Amino acid sequence: MDIICVKGGIPLQGSIDISGSKNGALILMPAALLTKDILTLTNVPNLVDTHNMIVLLKQHGVCVEQHKDQFQAHTPSIKSTVAPHSIVSRMRASILVLGPLLARTGHAQVALPGGCAIGARPINWHLKGLEALGACIELTETGCIKARAPHGLRGGYYRFPLISVTGTANVMMAACLAKGQTTLENVAQEPEVIILARCLQKMGARIEGIGTPTLCIEGVSRLNGATQTVPVDRIEAGTYAIASAITKGKVLLRNANTQLLPMDALQKAGLEIHPQEDGVVVSAPHGLSPVQLETAPFPGFSTDLQAQTIALLTQASGQSIITENIFEGRFMHVPELQRMGASIRVDGARSYITGITPLTGTQVVATDLRASVSLILAGLQAKGTTFIHHIHHLDRGYENLEKKLSLCGASIKRVALDHAATS
Ligand code: UD1
Repeated sequence: MDIICVKGGIPLQGSIDISGSKNGALILMPAALLTKDILTLTNVPNLVDTHNMIVLLKQHGVCVEQHKDQFQAHTPSIKSTVAPHSIVSRMRASILVLGPLLARTGHAQVALPGGCAIGARPINWHLKGLEALGACIELTETGCIKARAPHGLRGGYYRFPLISVTGTANVMMAACLAKGQTTLENVAQEPEVIILARCLQKMGARIEGIGTPTLCIEGVSRLNGATQTVPVDRIEAGTYAIASAITKGKVLLRNANTQLLPMDALQKAGLEIHPQEDGVVVSAPHGLSPVQLETAPFPGFSTDLQAQTIALLTQASGQSIITENIFEGRFMHVPELQRMGASIRVDGARSYITGITPLTGTQVVATDLRASVSLILAGLQAKGTTFIHHIHHLDRGYENLEKKLSLCGASIKRVALDHAATS
């Protein structure tokens, strides 16, 4: 098992190429199941999660060709409608094959998904949405979702009780091949969902209301192929913006733009963000200020940047308050940051961060993807060396993280645990 060692205190200087979006790619790739023609995606990040999605799609019968960041998928026929636990348990986004498989073949069996340990994360709205399209769904004793629509899905109405990103994507994909009109209300408006809707339109889907809370989808009998570029990863961009600021550095985030970043929150915290031709330059030359923030669906502040922001605010002078509204239990990075010296109190969904507290490197354990990277950020700032364990979470979502940070001067390396213990 590997760990990452970070020697802190070096201001980052230079540029970082922001990759294609992990969530964008994961939401787009299952659309390959909807068509016999070729779906080509470009700017696909090379991550454990995208690799796992390819493994899953291949066992359903998708022929995948990959060349650098290009993913080309051809699905002349569906070979299996069963998504096995051995693959699904690696990644929650696997649930996204449910809607497309059901729409194309009339049945699907998907093991209940795993993924990051950030709260209960039910999928009941995915299932209710598909039931509204006429699917019969049962949960088997062995923890599988069995969905059937022997005569095909039909158009229907579903209102999501609260915003669900993959829930919207799943039901929207299914509705594209249902007979008749579907209305989905209170849908997610995350950029990744909008790109999926646009890609489905290129494939021949008839979708209205993209970018609004209500989607009207007129089902078609078949979809064709298309080519789609995966958008730039807004969470990766935000993470490296914070890396620049927390180390008192100055970094060009190549491919990023101000629309990708939570500008209001970051600027209130003291970050200066200057657009350039090829990206944005981020620094915090006048120090960091405390902020009060709450996570919310897009265009609100993303829960996927909450952990990184808490690490940042340990270096802001005064008390910040961050409220986590999306996932209960998404403060597992806090005890680890506390072990590095951070002064943070959690009370229910709120965390109170008092800065400026000096951070000191120590042994810390990553608990989920964004928690892992918050510990890297803290380590980049801390005095001494931080040893981050359980880094497999990081590889799910950050392409070439050590390389990108090293190129900006960071002292960061991945070592085998045995070697770290003796060196
Ligand atoms: C997606 C993102 C994830 C991000 C999250 C919130 C992908 C692949 N993942 O996850 O990175 O953190 O959006 O922006 O795009 N819920 C239910 N029942 C459901 C579905 C959701 O109760 O059927 C709840 C969840 O427990 C959570 C909230 O709704 O509290 C939002 O979850 P959702 O938007 O569905 O998250 P994901 O799509 O899994």
